Parts: sequence; structure tokens; C-alpha cells
Amino acid sequence: MSLTDPPLHRYSLSIMTIGFDPTDPGFIADPYPALNLLRETTRIFYDDRSKLHLVTRFNDVRVALVDRRLGRVHDHVVSRAEIGLAPRDDRWVPFWNVEKWSLLELEPPDHTRIRKLITHAFTSRTVEKLRNPARRLADQILAPLAAQGTMELLADFAQPYSVQLIASLLGVPLEDGPQLIQWSHAMVKMYELATSDEQAAAASTAAAEFDTYVRDFIERRASEPRGDLISSLILAEVDGERLTEEELVSTVIVLLNAGHEATVNTMGNGIVAFLRHPEEWQRVVTGEVPARVAIEEMIRWDAPLHLFERWVLEDGVEIAGTSFGLGDKVGLLFGSANRDPRRFDRPDDFVAARGDSQHIGFGGGIHRCIGAPLARLELEVGLEALVSHFPDMELAASPVRHPTFVIRGYDGVALVRR
Ligand code: HEM
Repeated sequence: MSLTDPPLHRYSLSIMTIGFDPTDPGFIADPYPALNLLRETTRIFYDDRSKLHLVTRFNDVRVALVDRRLGRVHDHVVSRAEIGLAPRDDRWVPFWNVEKWSLLELEPPDHTRIRKLITHAFTSRTVEKLRNPARRLADQILAPLAAQGTMELLADFAQPYSVQLIASLLGVPLEDGPQLIQWSHAMVKMYELATSDEQAAAASTAAAEFDTYVRDFIERRASEPRGDLISSLILAEVDGERLTEEELVSTVIVLLNAGHEATVNTMGNGIVAFLRHPEEWQRVVTGEVPARVAIEEMIRWDAPLHLFERWVLEDGVEIAGTSFGLGDKVGLLFGSANRDPRRFDRPDDFVAARGDSQHIGFGGGIHRCIGAPLARLELEVGLEALVSHFPDMELAASPVRHPTFVIRGYDGVALVRR
């Protein structure tokens, strides 16, 4: 079998021979050697298990993200039946209902209309106003932990910090944070390459409960608006249009979910990377590398989100040198793209000062992360707070990886002060 780049027609490459197995604990522990081998072997390969054509290189991923002939969904162009797919499993209808108006499930013109309304309410000024509250919150959480000398980075700090910030921005009661985390964790399992019936049922139950919770909240804010993002979203009006109740529910849920999962995982992945490269951590502690710069490498080097999918919306679309037709599906390997030596010098080195903000971490094109300014602010302030409260931290035990590929993070990161 030839392992050279495929010509401009369908290729056949057995991925098992070059080691793409995202269910393998060894791969989950460190997917980069396998991803490096795949990327240097081929621009694109077919993964039989997920039925996806996977794109490995930075430039091909970037080009695919801005190609309007690809979409996160296909329903506006072609139905499931027309491309030979079984109807969506109606056991999980509560989940599909909540997702229906999420930005991540829409393409233009609905996507354009709803994204415009959200950006109207969720401005950079709204985000910047969170800087001081974020500092206060991080200090308040970390001071007692620093006195104690140990902490579980995710459960004790990253999660409550991130969830409370997005909850306070939206105007949701802070004491509901643990419940929001539980719903969110259950729902995001639907984005993995393989989801069991049990996980889908849990995601669906979580979605139904979350829906009721948010709907009730929106009703209260509609009759008594406050200075929070939910009130601004209810009132947002562009060209005489407003968000409907269904659109509001989906939007609030996607903001709450997306608003902490990836940020928490970036903090976990990034801090473990620092503690395994202590000389790089020292550069941040001494102020040689500002936190604002270091966070870009945290996102690039060990990406919190490894794969995003796109449907091909017309015939004859070329992706990574391969021609696709309407109804085909590709997967974009962000973690692989972010280690592409064609784009990054010494990509496997973790270099805090690299400060390259043009990594693929926040995506590109019309679905580019709407929360990137908030994520960056949160990570910068969080890292600064860790530098001042835990400059002398080290791993107390080997951190345990969460056994998922698409959403990459740890179950726990136990830290101790030296
Ligand atoms: C380090 C943290 C984060 C990372 C790495 C990240 C990454 C991404 C990526 C890659 C996409 C594009 C998906 C695609 O093209 O298919 C995206 C979209 C999105 N993100 Fe983030 N995100 C982060 C934090 C946040 C935060 C804090 C929020 C909310 C406050 C948020 C809300 C969203 C939303 C609503 C979308 C959908 C945008 C659209 O479809 O138009 N994200 N994110």
C-alpha cells in the first residue's frame, strides 16, 4: 500500500496500519506521536470507525474552515434521507430540541441572523468588564487553597472559577454552578466519536432538565430585565428582529456549556504541560513571559478540542487534495494541525514565549469561537492568579486523563506546594 499523499480521487488507506485508534488508552494518554506519523504520512485518511475523512495538516484544516461549501449541518441543503442516513434517533429528541437553535447547529441565513443578535449583546466591552471580577474570584478561591498547600486544580479551582464567571455574565445564580456542570458534562458526550445509548440517554435527560431550568429563567428575566447577558439577549434587536424563546433557550445553553468545558480543559492541559516543563513555568513566574502570551501556547500545544466535523454541501469540493461530493463528511484534526511543522517551528516543543495567537484552537470562518475573548481573559487572569498563589506548585500525583478524544482533558490534576 502506498502511504504517499492521495491523488485527486478517493483513496483507500487502512488507518489501522498507521495507528489512529482514539479508543486506545495509550493514544489518549499521548496522541501526538500517532498524529505526527499520520500527518507526515498523509494529508487526509479515512477512519472506518467514525466514517470520517480526517484532515491532518494546518493549512488544509484552515482552508476547510473558511470554505462555505462545507457546513456544520446539511439539513438546509439536503435531508438525511437524501444522503442515505437513517432518521435521527427519536429517543434523544429532548437533546436535539435543545441543540436545534444552537449556533453550532446552524448555517446561513439562520446562523448569520442569530450570531449577529448574540454579538450585539455579547460585546468585547461586556467581556472586558469581567476582568476585575475574575481577578477577585480567582484570588478568593486560591487564597485558602494556597494556605492549605494542596489543591485539585480542576475541581477546586478551574471549574468553579470558569462556571461562576460564565454564570455571573449570563446572570444565572452562582449556587447552581454544580448542577450546570453536571448537565454540561452529560450533554457534551454527544460530541464524541462514539456515544453509547446510556450516554445519549443521560445527555437527553440533562438537556430536558436544562431546558426547563433556562426557560423558567428567561421568563423571569423577560418580565424583569437586569444588567446581565440573558436580559441583553432577550432585548437584543437587529434589523427589527429578536431571538425567539426557542432560540434563546438554545443560545443560553450553548453559552453555558461551551463557556466552561474547553476553558477548564485548557487550564488542566496547560498547567500539566508547564509542570512537565518547569523551566517554562519559571519564565512565567518570573514575569519574563506574560500570562497573556503563555496562554496561546497552552491552547496550541495540548488542544482541549481535537476534532470538528463538516458536511460537504455540494459535489466536487476539493479538500486536502481529495474530491468530495454532497453528503460526504470530513473531520478536521485540530490537535494534529496545531503540531504541523509546516506552520510551527519545532511544534512539539512547549515554548511559553511562542505567543502565536494564530493557532487553530478557536477555529475559523463563520463558526469561529464567539467566546474566544472571554476564554483568553479567563485563562490570562487565572494563570496570573496561579503564579501569585501557587508559584511553587508541582504535581502531587500523575494526573489521570479523561478517556475521550474529541474533548481532551484530565479527570483530576492534584497539586502540592513545594
Ligand atoms: C479555550 C477555550 C475555548 C476553545 C478552545 C474554544 C474553541 C472553539 C472552536 C474551535 C469553535 C468552532 C467550532 C467549529 O468551527 O466547528 C468554537 C465555537 C464556539 N464557541 Fe468556543 N472555545 C472556547 C471557549 C468558549 C467560551 C468561553 C465560550 C462562551 C462564552 C464559547 C462559545 C462558543 C460558541 C457559542 C461557539 C459557536 C460559534 C458559531 O458556531 O458561530 N467558547 N469554540
